[in-house]
Amino acid sequence: MMASLPICNLDRTIPGSDAAQPFSGFSERTLLEAGQIPIEQLAELALREGQRTNPLYRVHRWFARRLGSQFRAILTGLALGGEDADRFWETYLDTIPLRGAIVLDPFVGGGTSLVEARRCHARVIGYDIDPVATLITRFELSAGAYEPYTPAIAEVCAVVSQALSKFHTTHVPGHGTCTVLHHFWVERRTCHTCGALSEIHPHYQLAHSKDTGCQWVFCQRCHQVYELSLSRKVLACVCGARTRISCGTVRKGTVRCPACGGSSALSSRRYYADTPPLIRTHKSMGVKAKKNKGKGFLRRRASVWYV
Ligand SMILES: C[S@@+](CC[C@H](N)C(=O)[O-])C[C@H]1O[C@@H](n2cnc3c(N)ncnc32)[C@H](O)[C@@H]1O
Ligand SMILES: [Zn+2]
Ligand SMILES: [Zn+2]
Repeated sequence: MMASLPICNLDRTIPGSDAAQPFSGFSERTLLEAGQIPIEQLAELALREGQRTNPLYRVHRWFARRLGSQFRAILTGLALGGEDADRFWETYLDTIPLRGAIVLDPFVGGGTSLVEARRCHARVIGYDIDPVATLITRFELSAGAYEPYTPAIAEVCAVVSQALSKFHTTHVPGHGTCTVLHHFWVERRTCHTCGALSEIHPHYQLAHSKDTGCQWVFCQRCHQVYELSLSRKVLACVCGARTRISCGTVRKGTVRCPACGGSSALSSRRYYADTPPLIRTHKSMGVKAKKNKGKGFLRRRASVWYV
């Protein structure tokens, strides 16, 4: 059942878009169906966009959010016929002829599909079972109507930034107070066999850089972060613990208790049926993330989130 209201802007048009070409229906065989999309160049574009996303889409880090360039490529591929491969880039970079077309995304998520379709002057409709998704998408679709730098917005930003900035600072020995770039979160679980509380890590590497041949890893016991050569497999911490960097406490959906070796399914209902998961910020993450800014490739999955 759809729990949330649809986003519907069928009666809205974009001012100044009269020059947009009208939608004349799909070709019998579109460029997308013909498989004539320049995937390699689009992948390059996606890599660049992934490193510096459109500020509009940063309004919320919705999970599995596709990139704007990917949707724009899909829309281009739908608007052109199978034999129009040579017109792909001129269409992609200019006006995709979708004025008057209706684009429906029944699982709208972060809203990228509808924003990109609106940019091509299509009329858009979206649904999502999650009201947060529809809220985000509504905002993204209407953001262009707001003046970005009014005194009222500046005042809100100042108040919010003062209230929140204290949560985004950390103390770095030798550097004083620093701004946190990423908070890493880790899920903890109490073992049903031995009662020990442990952290669920897929591995102990925070980031790595093939360019510099470095990796940033942390101690499984005290969380101290170290910069090591990428070839190192084991971290010997000053606290005395030895951490096998690639051997975390979860593998292929199975969690292993480091105290007794007992195992449980990561998604076991036993752990989630009655209580929310135990999640806490991981010590000293701000430190590493700051130091690693722009250098490494952040590599965490499964039980860890950044916010
Ligand atoms: C990964 S997002 C897809 C976002 C967007 N379509 C895209 O491709 O980037 C999937 C969305 O489907 C929504 N969803 C899952 N089941 C649904 C249902 N039964 N009805 C409506 N939305 C649903 C989820 O809440 C989520 O926002
Ligand atoms: Zn240690
Ligand atoms: Zn145990």
